[in-house]
Amino acid sequence: MLFFRCGRISVQNAISFCAPLAVILGIMCSVASAQQPSTRSAAVHADDAKAASFVADLLSKMTLEEKIGQMSQISYKEPHSVSHDERIRKEQVGSFLFLTDPVEINRLQHMAVEQTRLHIPLIFGYDVIHGFRTIYPIPLALASSWDPAEAQHAQSMAAREASAVGLNWTFAPMVDIARDPRWGRIMEGAGEDPYLGSRMAEAQVRGFQGDAIGSPDHILACVKHFAGYGAAEGGRDYDSANISDEQLWNVYLPPFHAAVQAGAGSLMTAYMDLNGVPATGNGFLLHNVLRKKWGFQGFVVSDWESIASLKTHGFAAAPDDAAVRAVNAGVNMEMTSAVFRDNLAAAVKNGSVKESAIDDSVHAILLMKYRLGLFTNPYVSLDRVKAELGSIAQREAARGAAERSAVLLRNQAGVLPLKKSVASIAVIGPLADSKPDIMGSWSLAGHAEDAVTVLEGLRKKLGSAVAIHYAKGVEIDRVQPSIFDELFASPKPVLKTQQERDAEFQHAIDQVKKSEVAILVLGEAQNMSGERASRLSLALPGRQQELLEAAVATGKPVVVVMLNGRPLDITWASQHVAAILEAWYPGTEGGNAIADLLTGDATPGGKLPVTWPRSVGQVPIYYSQNLTQIPDETDTRYWDGSSAPLYPFGYGLSYASFQLSNLKMDASSMRPDGSLTAAIDVQNTAAVAGDEVVQLYTHQRAGSASRPRRELKGFVRVPLAAGEKRTVKLTLHAGDLGFWSPQTHQWAVEPGLFDLWMGEDSKATEHVTFSVVP
Ligand code: BGC
Repeated sequence: MLFFRCGRISVQNAISFCAPLAVILGIMCSVASAQQPSTRSAAVHADDAKAASFVADLLSKMTLEEKIGQMSQISYKEPHSVSHDERIRKEQVGSFLFLTDPVEINRLQHMAVEQTRLHIPLIFGYDVIHGFRTIYPIPLALASSWDPAEAQHAQSMAAREASAVGLNWTFAPMVDIARDPRWGRIMEGAGEDPYLGSRMAEAQVRGFQGDAIGSPDHILACVKHFAGYGAAEGGRDYDSANISDEQLWNVYLPPFHAAVQAGAGSLMTAYMDLNGVPATGNGFLLHNVLRKKWGFQGFVVSDWESIASLKTHGFAAAPDDAAVRAVNAGVNMEMTSAVFRDNLAAAVKNGSVKESAIDDSVHAILLMKYRLGLFTNPYVSLDRVKAELGSIAQREAARGAAERSAVLLRNQAGVLPLKKSVASIAVIGPLADSKPDIMGSWSLAGHAEDAVTVLEGLRKKLGSAVAIHYAKGVEIDRVQPSIFDELFASPKPVLKTQQERDAEFQHAIDQVKKSEVAILVLGEAQNMSGERASRLSLALPGRQQELLEAAVATGKPVVVVMLNGRPLDITWASQHVAAILEAWYPGTEGGNAIADLLTGDATPGGKLPVTWPRSVGQVPIYYSQNLTQIPDETDTRYWDGSSAPLYPFGYGLSYASFQLSNLKMDASSMRPDGSLTAAIDVQNTAAVAGDEVVQLYTHQRAGSASRPRRELKGFVRVPLAAGEKRTVKLTLHAGDLGFWSPQTHQWAVEPGLFDLWMGEDSKATEHVTFSVVP
């Protein structure tokens, strides 16, 4: 999105993705509520029929112009030649985005409902990506919790706040798989893996929407960006994605399918070309895959001006052609550009668009407005605003989410948690006391003054008993400005001369020298990741590396706390500092959560949802490559350095330590419609409690196509008291092994021999084999 911006880029069988593994701890649970009581489903059908007939009746009364109005979304904040009031009265708009004032929302809604011929309510959308007023950890961080229930809860709390001001619709979750950390939007998704990504996708949809669309205090989800946006060439935002069919079906599409199956009511197209066809004009994606194969019943909105930009792509000849191509491809609502409004009526009249295509779009949009309850209850009560925004419950939930999202990457000689006896700490770095930065990108409705920095969190926690010596040390800034700077800027450098900068640097090192331990809060400013925030390099921006090396050179133990939205090059740090805590952008309560984690009041239990490269030259990088020639020597794929990642997918430490042993299966084979259960003993061998994420990976030894060396097929985050031992069981359904074969162009579970590993990360060593038999 962008306000006041210039130069904006103004087959096969039915797929059956399988239900997640049933997770069993100690006792087997039956598969959750597969059947609804028949009375309930009868009621649901009756409601559906009522909704459909209401919408059909309304549609039959609409003029073509009124229908096109429903297909048009306007940005409230963009400059406009015709007033919003006039557009509403003329029924030329169906939705607004970027309006968050409940009084104004009600005013516009009253106008739409009371002063128009058809009384159709507006739907108000906004990017509620990781919180609204209270900012939660970024989605990549929520994925690091490896706890879908946590992600669901965070998004349901975000929905509570957003719905309190009258928003009905969020443009989230983003479920784009991303394997290239140069791409700035990697922070908005769940990382590299389709299985973890699918679980996070469905959890977030449920969080936003509640049990059903229209649940009180919830909002409509919009799954984005369909599809393949995360594979932008070179990690350059908006650039083309060229994805093989095999990768599309097996890697990029599954999280979208999971979100659709979880009931997502809307979906957003993507900006880029997918294999040469713009995603916003892509009938294969929007008709064949989304509606025909997956049975999606909701509506599709374009991305910002992405219909107008079909011309820029060299795809549409002119705006009128862009309108025709988008609507015929299956786009139902246009975000911001007025290409639909200006061209669709003529297109219907000249026959290039059938009125039935318009009707299908409007039907889907109105049905969703109906299901959201907007026809019966269009206004927002102002009562909830004060009670909900930034409430204690929100702050507590945000703190909990931040604690569960952090990943401990290194902890030498138990430097963390900090000793109770510590009397002085240096807190250093450009991000240590920056309120906007700790919230991360896409926190536009967050209030920086609400945010707790690491410095503040530590001061509050440790009180006057510990001397805290703070210095910024260095400042960081983007080389190119961000499109969001006018709305939500990171603090700008204030040190003007080289002399001032050198003095601040030295001051920081002096603080380290006079302290027992140094905490360096390093990473990227919030505007360095997110949209149009791709990078050439993964180095710590500015002079942070130099600052880090100087701090380490003092001989004091150095703990690095990372605030960032992508893996960065921390290879030097991984060899020289005492500890590294990856906190991502943890949100409003970040400083409190980090203080809890550093002092041991909370124990890190997150795991990486991405493979962490040691050098930018390794990207794209992911764990589930195919095994090819001389696979065991992959560490020497480059002659000038190791090709192994710095940290593997699924990796993360704890203050506790765990031993996994005794992997067993309840059977050695299953049929293609069967299942089997793997069990492993997990023991907390430490004197403190902690969580372990038990992960299950499989590999198909032979088949119609080469298969990834390992694929995640199940996981569970298990809390274990000090010394506690539990047996963790994960049920693997044969369907989980299905894949789209590039050889047969079919989705199949192929009989044969499989490896199975369970362990703490994608390098798990506990191993068994099993077969799928015909
Ligand atoms: C982004 C979308 C976002 C939209 C509205 C676009 O630039 O790509 O993800 O939802 O703006 O802000």
